[in-house]
Amino acid sequence: MCGIVGFAGLRDAAPVLLDGLKKLEYRGYDSAGLAVMKDGTISVTKVSGRIASLCERTDEGRSMPGFTGIGHTRWATHGAPTEENAHPHLSNDGRFAIVHNGIIENYIQLREELIGQGYHFDSETDTEVIVHLLEMYYRGNMRKTLIKVVNRLKGSYALGVLCSDEPEKIYAAREASPLIIGLGLDENYFASDVTALVANTRNVIYMDDGDFAELSGDSVVIFDGTGRTVSKESTRISWDVQAAEKGGFDHFMLKEIMEQPGAVKATIAPRISEGRIVFDEIDISSAELADIRKTVITACGSAYYAGCAGKYALEKLTGIPVETALASELRYSDPLIDEHTLVIVISQSGETADTIAAMKECRARGARVLAIVNVVGSTVAKLADHTVYTWAGPEIAVATTKGYTTQVTVLYMLAVFFGEKLGRVSKKEYDKYMMMIARLPRHIQQAIDMNPLAAALAKKYHSSKALFFIGRNTDYAIALEGALKMKEISYLHAEAYAAGELKHGTIALIEEHTPVIALCCNQKIMEKTLSNIVEVKARGAEVLALTFRDNQKILSEADDLLFIPKVDSIFSAVIEILPLQLLAYYVARENGCDIDKPKNLAKSVTVE
Ligand code: G6P
Repeated sequence: MCGIVGFAGLRDAAPVLLDGLKKLEYRGYDSAGLAVMKDGTISVTKVSGRIASLCERTDEGRSMPGFTGIGHTRWATHGAPTEENAHPHLSNDGRFAIVHNGIIENYIQLREELIGQGYHFDSETDTEVIVHLLEMYYRGNMRKTLIKVVNRLKGSYALGVLCSDEPEKIYAAREASPLIIGLGLDENYFASDVTALVANTRNVIYMDDGDFAELSGDSVVIFDGTGRTVSKESTRISWDVQAAEKGGFDHFMLKEIMEQPGAVKATIAPRISEGRIVFDEIDISSAELADIRKTVITACGSAYYAGCAGKYALEKLTGIPVETALASELRYSDPLIDEHTLVIVISQSGETADTIAAMKECRARGARVLAIVNVVGSTVAKLADHTVYTWAGPEIAVATTKGYTTQVTVLYMLAVFFGEKLGRVSKKEYDKYMMMIARLPRHIQQAIDMNPLAAALAKKYHSSKALFFIGRNTDYAIALEGALKMKEISYLHAEAYAAGELKHGTIALIEEHTPVIALCCNQKIMEKTLSNIVEVKARGAEVLALTFRDNQKILSEADDLLFIPKVDSIFSAVIEILPLQLLAYYVARENGCDIDKPKNLAKSVTVE
């Protein structure tokens, strides 16, 4: 939530900052602002609304000359998304400007203290206390001041700071919110995410909690809370600018849907060697594995649903019971987790606050934590005992697609890998599973190709009041993600129900023309789902079934159809979700929704 950028160099900062902010807009987009320094004076421009308005207000940055600056795009937590609450915030004496991503938990006490000292506040934000603290503690030494200030803060922050006494420098600090330094030629940058940096540089330094940075055009100094300089390795980012561009698609979401065959392939390929799954990143011996009594998968949002979908294969092939737990619930649940528990944490961004807290809770109870993460160097990746990257490339659309499918793919591979290590998967089965995994990218492509009618179906269903997604077993787990996709981008009320549960309440909601999306891909349980289709049809429902082309029974009952190639349900989620992603996308498009930036949402949820 919220994105911050900073620039110091030998050209105007504002256009660079605006470009960076555009890339970070997925993190929050209800207001935005820039602060630029010229001849020892800081000027600030803020808007409520999107970065596009900020570009317009500043004439694409031209109206704000100056070689150092900071910028912010906001997802409001404290105070409405107004211009006053937008960042950057200025100190009363105009000497400091700051941008902040995170939450200052003790801001109320600090605010009272500062008001008592005579400081006046212009916003309702938690952030503003920081800039007044800077003014209060400043005695001419920025490093010392920054350290003093952050020692007063409780909570999370990625901070960017300007001080008009040091016109060529920008400062940054990090605690529990992502922050990355970009190293350029005669210019340096910071940003919440590498996507904001790749247009300028691929050489980056990942800041750790407790790190501070002092940047000018020709130097980057990282120091710690004692003021001592810390030496840090730089990393080269492998993907390029195009990976974070729309590349001819109308929306990032559509581009990312279409990228899934490649993303899943990139996730699988480096882990297959001579027909065997190899996870170099997991050093767990067979004996250690045999000591595990249960597996707990924890995550938020779609990542949690990826866990729900992967649970079946994992449980079946390892024989170890698998529980799924929402991270926001697990963290406060006094969970029964100990050193005999394997905790699998799933996160695209690696920065989700609840996921990180749940992970810490599990570790504190002695569990071994394996993380499935997309963003390299993220907090989840750093905290885990074993980190498995999904290699999906940057995901920009707020609603995840390739993030989800690559996460489930890793779970499938783990199921086979662990199952074999535990001696529960025979050679013959192993070879069969390997073949199925190797074919996933091709089957995903087929699922895309088989549904050219998704856009036409969207025209029929887009004005529905509510949609019901039903399925059993693996189909139910996938329905959960299908319904979430629909509601988050199209704003239609969509709910997933275990098909067998309909008769215990939900069926009361079915009336003439209620759309029911029935997932019928799990062959073991298909007859049962068919009975539920018949039941809802008897009550007037319009049934859109998702199934195989030759599934005559379902074809004859359904009003409309979406298809996937015929596959075993053990690894079907990554294929089955495709038509549902496409349907959600086209329904949202029909409804004129802002697909890549749905209202009230943000991609990286760094608050509780
Ligand atoms: C937000 C995103 C979802 C995502 C969830 C968890 O709600 O919009 O797409 O599934 O956070 O995020 P994570 O980065 O931990 O996977």
